[in-house]
Amino acid sequence: MTPVEVAPAVSLRGGLAVPGDKSISHRALLLGAVADGESSVTGLGVSEDTLATANAVRALGADVTVDGDAARVRGVGLRGLSPPDGPLDCRNAGTLMRLLPGLLVGQEGRFELVGDESLSRRPLERVAEPLRLMGASVETTDGHAPLVLDGQGAVKPIRYELPVASAQVKSCVLLAGLYASGGRTEVIELVPTRDHTERMLEGAGARMRRKAGAPAVWPAEHLRPLELRVPGDFSSAAPFIVAATLLPGSELRLQDVGVNPTRTGLLSVLERMGARVALFNRRTEGGEPVADLEVTPADLVATTVDAVEVPSLVDELPLFALAAALARGDSLVRGAQELRVKESDRIEAVKNVLRPLGIRIETTHDGFRVRGVPSRPKGGGVVDAAGDHRIAMLAAVAGLVSREGVRIEGAETVAVSFPDFFAMLDSIAVR
Ligand code: S3P
Repeated sequence: MTPVEVAPAVSLRGGLAVPGDKSISHRALLLGAVADGESSVTGLGVSEDTLATANAVRALGADVTVDGDAARVRGVGLRGLSPPDGPLDCRNAGTLMRLLPGLLVGQEGRFELVGDESLSRRPLERVAEPLRLMGASVETTDGHAPLVLDGQGAVKPIRYELPVASAQVKSCVLLAGLYASGGRTEVIELVPTRDHTERMLEGAGARMRRKAGAPAVWPAEHLRPLELRVPGDFSSAAPFIVAATLLPGSELRLQDVGVNPTRTGLLSVLERMGARVALFNRRTEGGEPVADLEVTPADLVATTVDAVEVPSLVDELPLFALAAALARGDSLVRGAQELRVKESDRIEAVKNVLRPLGIRIETTHDGFRVRGVPSRPKGGGVVDAAGDHRIAMLAAVAGLVSREGVRIEGAETVAVSFPDFFAMLDSIAVR
C-alpha cells in the first residue's frame, strides 16, 4: 500500500466524538454472549479488533448483529458456549485472546485460539498459568498462540497475585472466577489497572467486591443481559488531545469521552507538564465515568513517568514521548517494560518513528528518555507503523506538529482500533 502522507497543521479546531471504547466493547460482546437473554450495546467501538470478538462469540454459538455502532447479542447463558468446528481466530486482538479463556474454562469441550503474526508473538503463559492453578487444562505453544483449552465446566477459586500489571490477566482470572465453585476468586494487583471488567460484571448482577488492588468475584449461575452505552475511547481521543496541546491556536472539543481514572493517566501527566484540558459535563453512563473535554494549547515542561503510573497510560506512552519531545527539559519513562510486548515492541517502534523526524530519544530496557525542544521537529521522510495502530497514530500526530510532515508506511493498521482516524483528523486539522 502507498504510504499515507500527513502534512503539518497550523492548529486543530472543532468538535469530535471518537468511537466507543475498545476495551469496554470487547467486554460487552463477551459478557453479552454468556448472559441470559438479549443484550443491547450502543456506541460500540467498531474496529477490526472488536469485530474479531463479535466473530469469535458467533462461532461459539451466540448470535450477534452489528448495525453501525449498535450491537445486539443473544446470550447463551454462562455455560452455553459450544466448541466451533475449527480454531477461533483472535486476529490482532490481545484482549480477546486473553479474556476469552476465562469464559471457556466454564464450558465443556476443546477450544483452540489462534492469532495473527503479531498476536502470535505476544506472551500467553500469563493467562494460562493462573487458569492452570484454578485446575483448568490449558496449553500454549511455547508460551504463545495457538492456545488449546479443554473445558471441564468448572474450576476452583484462587487468590492470585498478578506478576505483571495487566488488566487482561486480571480480567481473565475474574471471568474464570464465575465458574469457580466453592468460594471467591480474588486478584491482588500492586498497581491498579483498568477496571472495566469489574464494573461490567457488577452491572450484569455478578456478586463482586470492587476493592482497588484486590477485586474479587463469587461463582454465578446467571448474568443479566446488558443495556449499555459505550463511552468514547480515551485512547482514541488521546492523539487529538496531544496534537491540540502542541499546536498553537487549537481549540478542540471532544464529546462523550470515557474518563475512568484507571485510563486517564495521560491527563494527569499532561496536566503536570502544563497542559490545558478541561473536563465538563461529568456523568456516569453504564457504570463508567464520562465527560466532555476541551483542549487548548500550552507550553509544556518535562516530567518523569514511573512504574506506578504506567498502567493508567500504558497505551498512551508513545504519545507521551511526542509531548515530551516538545516540552522544555528531559523527560523519562521508567518501569514500562510491558511496552515491549504490545502489538509491536513499542519502545523500539517509538524511537524508530521519532528519531527520523529529528527528535532526540534514547531507549532503555524499560522505557525511554526524551530530550525536549519546545519547537516543531523537522519531520520529513517515511516512517514505519510497525504493524501497530498506536504507532501509526503517533506518527500521524508527529507529522502534524512537524515542519515538513511525514509519510507513514502501513498506516492502514489504524483500523485495528480506529478505522476513521485519518478522516476525523482531516476534519479538524487547519492547514
Ligand atoms: C487492555 C489492557 C491493556 C492494554 C490493552 C487493552 C484491556 O493491556 O494495553 O490495549 O482491554 O484490558 P494489558 O492488560 O496487557 O496491560
